[in-house]
Amino acid sequence: MRKYFALLLAVLLVGGLFAVKITMTSGGVGKELEVLKKQLEMFHQQYPDIEVEIIPMPDSSTERHDLYVTYFAAGETDPDVLMLDVIWPAEFAPFLEDLTADKDYFELGEFLPGTVMSVTVNGRIVAVPWFTDAGLLYYRKDLLEKYGYDHAPRTWDELVEMAKKISQAEGIHGFVWQGARYEGLVCDFLEYLWSFGGDVLDESGKVVIDSPEAVAALQFMVDLIYKHKVTPEGVTTYMEEDARRIFQNGEAVFMRNWPYAWSLVNSDESPIKGKVGVAPLPMGPGGRRAATLGGWVLGINKFSSPEEKEAAKKLIKFLTSYDQQLYKAINAGQNPTRKAVYKDPKLKEAAPFMVELLEVFINALPRPRVANYTEVSDVIQRYVHAALTRQTTPEDAIKNIAKELKFLLGQ
Ligand code: GLC
Repeated sequence: MRKYFALLLAVLLVGGLFAVKITMTSGGVGKELEVLKKQLEMFHQQYPDIEVEIIPMPDSSTERHDLYVTYFAAGETDPDVLMLDVIWPAEFAPFLEDLTADKDYFELGEFLPGTVMSVTVNGRIVAVPWFTDAGLLYYRKDLLEKYGYDHAPRTWDELVEMAKKISQAEGIHGFVWQGARYEGLVCDFLEYLWSFGGDVLDESGKVVIDSPEAVAALQFMVDLIYKHKVTPEGVTTYMEEDARRIFQNGEAVFMRNWPYAWSLVNSDESPIKGKVGVAPLPMGPGGRRAATLGGWVLGINKFSSPEEKEAAKKLIKFLTSYDQQLYKAINAGQNPTRKAVYKDPKLKEAAPFMVELLEVFINALPRPRVANYTEVSDVIQRYVHAALTRQTTPEDAIKNIAKELKFLLGQ
């Protein structure tokens, strides 16, 4: 009899009765989904009793946000592991497992401080930083050289001058970026705003966007399209991947994008492999430059079962480990959040700019830190996009942003 029990137990074990299955959301921008699948295979080898199913998400951060709102409102027990934009922890904290007690388990002391700050809400840790982002300027090294420029543009004016000259002579676009009405537009707009000397809120949280600097910054974005004509009108529909495809096809001199584009523009299929340089974004008239801080963090659904939460923690620890961050940085071009990875010679070899421009990543500026950020973003998206499509003037757009933000923030 005992023999049969032993046999039954073995069958059940092999059949995975004690296995747990968890779900995880993931974006599919560039190589990220393909790389995650490989990482999950490695995870499964280490933890054969944990099965992970990927729930793919749309490319747009704004659309992903709206999906999460639906999940949480319904108290869904899936997804268990949530890939969250750095701007959401404050808003979604009530639906996320409190990971404060697991700070050492996840070795958060080893992470870049800014990324840990982004997952800390009222002193509680609600997620683990997965990869960090900052806006960068990609440029065609070969074309700059061909037209006699020995450096990437240092100012926005210099960028316009180079873009005009080269794009006209080559019959391609000058500068592509993210101008569609979604979160990415806010990231781009803030980089102009900050580099022109403006800001949305001051340190005390007061709305200060109604300034000549803000109008000049937005006017400059509009001018890129209609006055200097270095940016195609289609930019008002572009997200990251639209800009990346155009640039990668050799159809633009400059591109604003996040680090992930690096491994793609240098892949074997890329017609511009080896011809690309990466630099900090140019300075505005006052000599300031700025990059928006982006990035994604991993949190756990509060409504998941205790077994699922335990499995989720193991998965998050695995994905944010030194080795996996290095793997992701090299293969998906997504920046590590662990400080030590930046010293790894393998990173420097695969993505030199990540190491050379570390300052840019460390000094990247966060978007306004308010609990109702999504509404703040929506206001900015609406008016900036209206100015870019010439439905309103930069002056009116900035005035209206200021008015609506003051209302939203009770000022
Ligand atoms: C990138 C950034 C993210 C940002 C998004 C906007 O994914 O990491 O923080 O919100 O782009 O498109």
